[in-house]
Amino acid sequence: VGGIVAAVPVEAAVAELTSTADPASATPFAAEMPVPTVLRPTSRTRDTDFYDIRMFDTTAEVIPGLVTGVRTYNGSFPGPTIRAARGRQVVVRHHNGLAVDTSVHLHGGHVPAGHDGHPMDLLKPGATREYHYPNAQAAASLWYHDHAHGLEAENVYRGLHASYVVTDEHERGLKLPSGKYEVELQLRDARIEQDGTLTFTRAQSRPHLLVNGRERPHFRVAARKYRFRVYNVSVDRFMSLRLADGGEFVQIGSDGGFLAAPVGLTELRLSAGERADVVVDFSRYKPGTSVVLQNTSALATENPDVLRFDVGFPAYDDSRVPPVLLAAAALPPATVERRFVLEWNAAQARYTINGQVYDPARVDVQAKLGTTEIWTVVNADAPAPAPNFHLNHNFHTHQTQFRVLDRNGVPVRPAEAGQKDVVMVAPGDTVRLALTWKNFTGRYVVHCHQLPHSDYSQMLEIEITA
Ligand code: C2O
Ligand code: CU
Repeated sequence: VGGIVAAVPVEAAVAELTSTADPASATPFAAEMPVPTVLRPTSRTRDTDFYDIRMFDTTAEVIPGLVTGVRTYNGSFPGPTIRAARGRQVVVRHHNGLAVDTSVHLHGGHVPAGHDGHPMDLLKPGATREYHYPNAQAAASLWYHDHAHGLEAENVYRGLHASYVVTDEHERGLKLPSGKYEVELQLRDARIEQDGTLTFTRAQSRPHLLVNGRERPHFRVAARKYRFRVYNVSVDRFMSLRLADGGEFVQIGSDGGFLAAPVGLTELRLSAGERADVVVDFSRYKPGTSVVLQNTSALATENPDVLRFDVGFPAYDDSRVPPVLLAAAALPPATVERRFVLEWNAAQARYTINGQVYDPARVDVQAKLGTTEIWTVVNADAPAPAPNFHLNHNFHTHQTQFRVLDRNGVPVRPAEAGQKDVVMVAPGDTVRLALTWKNFTGRYVVHCHQLPHSDYSQMLEIEITA
């Protein structure tokens, strides 16, 4: 069996674990929300921070009182956060202590092809290798996650996901909430059985919503402003988040960094892989009260609650949200146009792009360094009734961020108009993107970031040449 064939997970998927019992029930908001730990460099030089990460299986207490097996970076679920400074290189030495293939992708990172975590550039069980990240990009909430071809959905679902935050001088000058008032929220769904087993399932409901690896926790906040880096690290769950009292919050950033200006919102929509940087001002709540973050796109049979904020006393707050965050760069004129149609192909039982399934031996897109292109991305599937979410698609590019020009001919709202690397493409939608290939040549991929679609071959191979 050739490597390519072996990497495509048809049999594995057909034989997926299914459970007939009811999943575990949990007392809402019983657990305290953990804040992911920030990884300390193993060593530092004048211009580089070195890190060591070991991937291994361990257990976590996702639901209080239950023991759940998880696949981890350094034993933590989610993995530890790497905080990188723009202009300082980061080198991460990863050791694969798991029994499965892995590949570490820095999602949103602008990195050389050999360090991107291409799906065929595998880190085998027992192997160690270095990934080099230049961090020559603006402050943004990136993440790292597994990308081994055909295994990415399961590996990410089992726990191989973590934050990677790039900071810069410009950001420090904004005086946003920082330190313990700047918190990552890694949101995702899961299905946990009564014995604690984490079931990887494509078809069954995954009723548990986890924040930083805990099921529906609570988080004690002071009555002041907080900055939350909200990550949807679900493999394919769409989330529409709101505060239960309808309270407003402010979005200041998206996948690739700051928006031009803050945007007031009462609802935040994130498909799998998308991020939003938001500021919530809890000073409007009375100490001793609570407000619940909900996912209004939960199924009717599911509890929509995600996280309860328990508001304490006011705390000193000299942070602010300035009216201008970052001047948007002008878009260079585009000289190439391409069209990509995303579709479920029932006959092949595969997710396709332009009618094809991924073949790493075939280059689908040849692009030239320095070129600006406009991509039209179409979801040709019709909406399906819940709980069949499978005909939503989204679209993710490696190598570069993009700007979303319009959806169905209508310019996107300001919250979606900044630098992005994942865009939602709902059934019937047509989305246009503009992107420029800069700095790095070589082979990368673009794909649907519903990972049970990319691992069912909804992915393209792209080659950038000088
Ligand atoms: Cu977040 Cu190609 O992936
Ligand atoms: Cu898809």
